[in-house]
Amino acid sequence: MSNFKRIGVLTSGGDAPGMNAAIRAVTRLALYKGFEVMGIYNGYQGLIEGDIKKLGARDVAYIINRGGTMLYTARSNEFCKKEGVEKAAEMCRKFGIDGVVTIGGDGTFRGAVDLTDAGIPCIGIPGTIDNDIGSTDMTIGFDTAMNTVVQLVDRLRDTGESHARCNIVEVMGREAGDIALQTSIAVGAVTAVIKEIPTDIDHVVDKMIDARKDGKRNFIIIISEGMGPDYGEELSNIIESRTKIETRFARLAHIQRGGSPSLRDRVLATQMGCAAVENLVNGQMKQVMCLRGNSIISMDIYDALMVDKLMKNILTNEEEDTIPPNKFYEMKKIVADKQAYKQYLDYIIDHITL
Ligand code: F6P
Repeated sequence: MSNFKRIGVLTSGGDAPGMNAAIRAVTRLALYKGFEVMGIYNGYQGLIEGDIKKLGARDVAYIINRGGTMLYTARSNEFCKKEGVEKAAEMCRKFGIDGVVTIGGDGTFRGAVDLTDAGIPCIGIPGTIDNDIGSTDMTIGFDTAMNTVVQLVDRLRDTGESHARCNIVEVMGREAGDIALQTSIAVGAVTAVIKEIPTDIDHVVDKMIDARKDGKRNFIIIISEGMGPDYGEELSNIIESRTKIETRFARLAHIQRGGSPSLRDRVLATQMGCAAVENLVNGQMKQVMCLRGNSIISMDIYDALMVDKLMKNILTNEEEDTIPPNKFYEMKKIVADKQAYKQYLDYIIDHITL
């Protein structure tokens, strides 16, 4: 794109550790390549309102180690409407922004599609602790959030062991059980209860009763928030009444979304930020950056959103009809591989704990 001069960067949806590392990478590489960078504050809402400032290299100094997002974030109802998108595109033209790197989850990507359709090319970077973006193996923030959960649950374990209790811990992830599954392995949980794989509670209760007879004092059960807001308390009552083991419930909530990003997230965010700039200035648009194996690849955002819907079982027949059969086969394979991996982790948890 020969007349490309200015890149905008924004973060939207829930913040995630590593977003700052992505902002830094986008800014620094774009500046290195001779482009100007405009920081768009407060997500799409900030774009509509013109909350935009030029970023220099020093503006993104000392942020790679910081959680949250220096550009702040917001969920915008106005941007969900056509007039809001038009206003945002107009604001880009006013500030001379030729393309935008948008960092966030699936809602952010839907916004990127709308903004591109309104004439402003966008590239998406998956930033969410949930790891619920079907097209990428990992989202930015997921690794840090899991490490935070492990640290917190290790603390619960100290007190649970002293009191010979069971601790039931709810972790975030929206509808996805990725955080719950992997942290369950890392903390030695009895089971992970997630929406994607049914849990046999009778089996869990029997295992706990047997293990208690065998001298086990503390039990950890990790549940995903996708099980519903009352599930944790309900399960605590069931476990306590049936095993006779004193049980406490804890919801980790937003505490797992903060903190300094892990090495893994800093590197992933940096790689994705750089790849996004390369793609954008080379005239690409409506793409999402994805980690597949050890490589950063890009995928059409519309396709990525379809993979997401397939994974979340919300793809409509009409949407399915828009996807060519060979592409649909690839999408189904991505989703099947992810589900198989989750089943494998669940199998491990069941077979090596207690
Ligand atoms: O998407 C990230 C996430 O932290 C989810 O895990 C959680 O369901 C949601 O955001 C919480 O949203 P809010 O910050 O609006 O309470």
